[in-house]
Amino acid sequence: MAARNRTSPPAAFGLGVDLVEVSRIRRLAANPSFLKRVFTPGELAYSLKGKNRYERLAARFAVKEAVIKALDARGLSLKDIEVENTFSGRPLVKVKKHRSISLMVSISHTSRHALAAVVVVPKNT
Ligand SMILES: CC(C)(COP(=O)(O)OP(=O)(O)OC[C@H]1O[C@@H](n2cnc3c(N)ncnc32)[C@H](O)[C@@H]1OP(=O)(O)O)[C@@H](O)C(=O)NCCC(=O)NCCS
Repeated sequence: MAARNRTSPPAAFGLGVDLVEVSRIRRLAANPSFLKRVFTPGELAYSLKGKNRYERLAARFAVKEAVIKALDARGLSLKDIEVENTFSGRPLVKVKKHRSISLMVSISHTSRHALAAVVVVPKNT
Protein backbone atom coordinates (compact mmCIF):
# COMPACT_ATOMS: atom_id res chain seq x y z
CA MET A 1 0.00 0.00 0.00
CA ALA A 2 1.36 3.47 -0.87
CA ALA A 3 2.42 5.73 2.04
CA ARG A 4 -0.03 8.52 2.76
CA ASN A 5 1.16 12.01 1.92
CA ARG A 6 1.89 14.00 5.13
CA THR A 7 -0.45 16.78 4.06
CA SER A 8 -3.39 14.57 3.18
CA PRO A 9 -6.35 14.47 5.59
CA PRO A 10 -6.68 11.57 8.04
CA ALA A 11 -8.25 8.51 6.47
CA ALA A 12 -11.58 7.59 8.01
CA PHE A 13 -11.64 3.89 8.77
CA GLY A 14 -15.19 3.37 9.73
CA LEU A 15 -18.65 4.76 9.06
CA GLY A 16 -21.94 3.91 10.72
CA VAL A 17 -25.45 5.35 10.60
CA ASP A 18 -28.64 4.46 12.45
CA LEU A 19 -32.26 5.56 12.34
CA VAL A 20 -34.47 4.98 15.39
CA GLU A 21 -38.23 5.37 15.88
CA VAL A 22 -38.84 7.63 18.86
CA SER A 23 -42.04 5.71 19.76
CA ARG A 24 -40.00 2.52 20.22
CA ILE A 25 -37.67 4.20 22.70
CA ARG A 26 -40.63 5.81 24.49
CA ARG A 27 -42.11 2.31 24.97
CA LEU A 28 -38.82 0.78 26.15
CA ALA A 29 -38.12 3.71 28.48
CA ALA A 30 -41.23 2.86 30.50
CA ASN A 31 -38.98 0.16 31.99
CA PRO A 32 -36.41 1.83 34.28
CA SER A 33 -34.00 -1.09 33.86
CA PHE A 34 -33.78 -0.34 30.12
CA LEU A 35 -32.72 3.23 30.88
CA LYS A 36 -30.16 2.08 33.43
CA ARG A 37 -28.75 -0.65 31.20
CA VAL A 38 -28.35 1.45 28.06
CA PHE A 39 -27.67 5.06 29.05
CA THR A 40 -25.01 6.65 31.25
CA PRO A 41 -26.00 9.01 34.08
CA GLY A 42 -24.76 11.96 32.00
CA GLU A 43 -26.87 10.96 29.01
CA LEU A 44 -29.96 10.57 31.20
CA ALA A 45 -29.37 13.95 32.86
CA TYR A 46 -29.04 15.70 29.49
CA SER A 47 -31.97 13.91 27.83
CA LEU A 48 -34.48 13.96 30.65
CA LYS A 49 -34.15 17.69 31.31
CA GLY A 50 -35.59 18.61 27.91
CA LYS A 51 -39.16 18.63 26.61
CA ASN A 52 -38.06 16.34 23.79
CA ARG A 53 -36.67 13.71 26.16
CA TYR A 54 -37.62 10.67 24.07
CA GLU A 55 -36.15 12.22 20.93
CA ARG A 56 -32.90 12.79 22.76
CA LEU A 57 -32.85 9.27 24.19
CA ALA A 58 -33.64 7.85 20.74
CA ALA A 59 -30.81 9.93 19.27
CA ARG A 60 -28.36 8.58 21.84
CA PHE A 61 -29.55 5.06 21.13
CA ALA A 62 -28.98 5.72 17.42
CA VAL A 63 -25.45 6.95 18.17
CA LYS A 64 -24.65 3.75 20.08
CA GLU A 65 -25.86 1.56 17.22
CA ALA A 66 -24.03 3.72 14.67
CA VAL A 67 -20.79 3.35 16.69
CA ILE A 68 -21.19 -0.43 16.71
CA LYS A 69 -21.61 -0.35 12.93
CA ALA A 70 -18.69 1.99 12.44
CA LEU A 71 -16.38 -0.15 14.59
CA ASP A 72 -17.92 -3.48 13.47
CA ALA A 73 -18.00 -4.33 17.17
CA ARG A 74 -21.22 -6.14 18.02
CA GLY A 75 -19.94 -7.21 21.42
CA LEU A 76 -19.57 -3.64 22.64
CA SER A 77 -21.77 -2.74 25.59
CA LEU A 78 -24.16 0.10 24.75
CA LYS A 79 -23.34 1.76 28.05
CA ASP A 80 -19.63 1.85 27.19
CA ILE A 81 -20.54 4.29 24.42
CA GLU A 82 -21.28 7.75 25.80
CA VAL A 83 -22.58 10.91 24.17
CA GLU A 84 -21.76 14.26 25.73
CA ASN A 85 -22.70 17.72 24.53
CA THR A 86 -20.41 20.72 24.55
CA PHE A 87 -21.57 24.12 25.79
CA SER A 88 -22.70 24.97 22.24
CA GLY A 89 -24.74 21.76 22.03
CA ARG A 90 -22.32 19.92 19.75
CA PRO A 91 -22.34 16.18 20.47
CA LEU A 92 -19.16 14.23 21.24
CA VAL A 93 -18.93 10.47 21.57
CA LYS A 94 -16.48 8.37 23.56
CA VAL A 95 -16.06 4.63 23.79
CA LYS A 96 -14.47 3.02 26.84
CA LYS A 97 -11.46 0.82 26.00
CA HIS A 98 -11.07 2.30 22.51
CA ARG A 99 -8.49 4.99 23.19
CA SER A 100 -6.60 4.70 19.91
CA ILE A 101 -9.47 6.01 17.83
CA SER A 102 -11.48 9.16 17.77
CA LEU A 103 -15.11 9.32 16.70
CA MET A 104 -16.98 12.07 14.89
CA VAL A 105 -20.75 12.16 15.36
CA SER A 106 -23.73 14.08 14.07
CA ILE A 107 -27.30 13.82 15.34
CA SER A 108 -30.71 14.92 14.10
CA HIS A 109 -34.18 14.22 15.50
CA THR A 110 -37.86 14.91 14.97
CA SER A 111 -40.87 13.83 17.02
CA ARG A 112 -40.89 10.55 15.04
CA HIS A 113 -37.30 9.67 14.23
CA ALA A 114 -33.76 10.13 15.47
CA LEU A 115 -30.76 9.79 13.21
CA ALA A 116 -27.05 9.50 13.96
CA ALA A 117 -23.97 9.26 11.78
CA VAL A 118 -20.56 8.28 13.15
CA VAL A 119 -17.13 8.36 11.51
CA VAL A 120 -14.10 6.60 13.02
CA VAL A 121 -10.73 8.31 12.63
CA PRO A 122 -7.49 6.77 13.89
CA LYS A 123 -5.70 9.00 16.41
CA ASN A 124 -2.29 10.50 15.57
CA THR A 125 -2.94 10.64 11.82
C1 LIG B 1 -27.72 23.48 15.93
C2 LIG B 1 -28.80 23.32 14.87
C3 LIG B 1 -28.14 23.20 13.49
C4 LIG B 1 -29.61 22.03 15.17
O1 LIG B 1 -30.48 21.75 14.11
P1 LIG B 1 -32.04 21.48 14.31
O2 LIG B 1 -32.65 21.25 12.99
O3 LIG B 1 -32.61 22.53 15.20
O4 LIG B 1 -32.15 20.14 15.19
P2 LIG B 1 -31.69 18.64 14.83
O5 LIG B 1 -32.69 17.71 15.42
O6 LIG B 1 -31.38 18.44 13.38
O7 LIG B 1 -30.33 18.53 15.61
C5 LIG B 1 -30.31 18.49 17.02
C6 LIG B 1 -28.95 18.01 17.40
O8 LIG B 1 -27.96 18.87 16.81
C7 LIG B 1 -26.77 18.72 17.57
N1 LIG B 1 -26.18 20.04 17.79
C8 LIG B 1 -26.62 21.04 18.57
N2 LIG B 1 -25.77 22.09 18.51
C9 LIG B 1 -24.76 21.73 17.68
C10 LIG B 1 -23.55 22.36 17.22
N3 LIG B 1 -23.23 23.59 17.63
N4 LIG B 1 -22.74 21.69 16.38
C11 LIG B 1 -23.05 20.42 15.98
N5 LIG B 1 -24.19 19.77 16.37
C12 LIG B 1 -25.02 20.41 17.21
C13 LIG B 1 -27.15 18.07 18.90
O9 LIG B 1 -26.65 16.75 18.90
C14 LIG B 1 -28.69 18.07 18.86
O10 LIG B 1 -29.28 16.95 19.45
P3 LIG B 1 -29.15 16.69 21.04
O11 LIG B 1 -29.47 17.97 21.75
O12 LIG B 1 -30.13 15.58 21.31
O13 LIG B 1 -27.70 16.25 21.26
C15 LIG B 1 -29.81 24.51 14.86
O14 LIG B 1 -30.44 24.59 16.11
C16 LIG B 1 -29.18 25.82 14.51
O15 LIG B 1 -28.54 26.49 15.33
N6 LIG B 1 -29.36 26.26 13.25
C17 LIG B 1 -28.80 27.52 12.79
C18 LIG B 1 -29.79 28.20 11.87
C19 LIG B 1 -30.93 28.73 12.67
O16 LIG B 1 -30.77 29.43 13.64
N7 LIG B 1 -32.13 28.40 12.20
C20 LIG B 1 -33.34 28.73 12.89
C21 LIG B 1 -33.89 30.06 12.39
S1 LIG B 1 -34.75 29.88 10.89
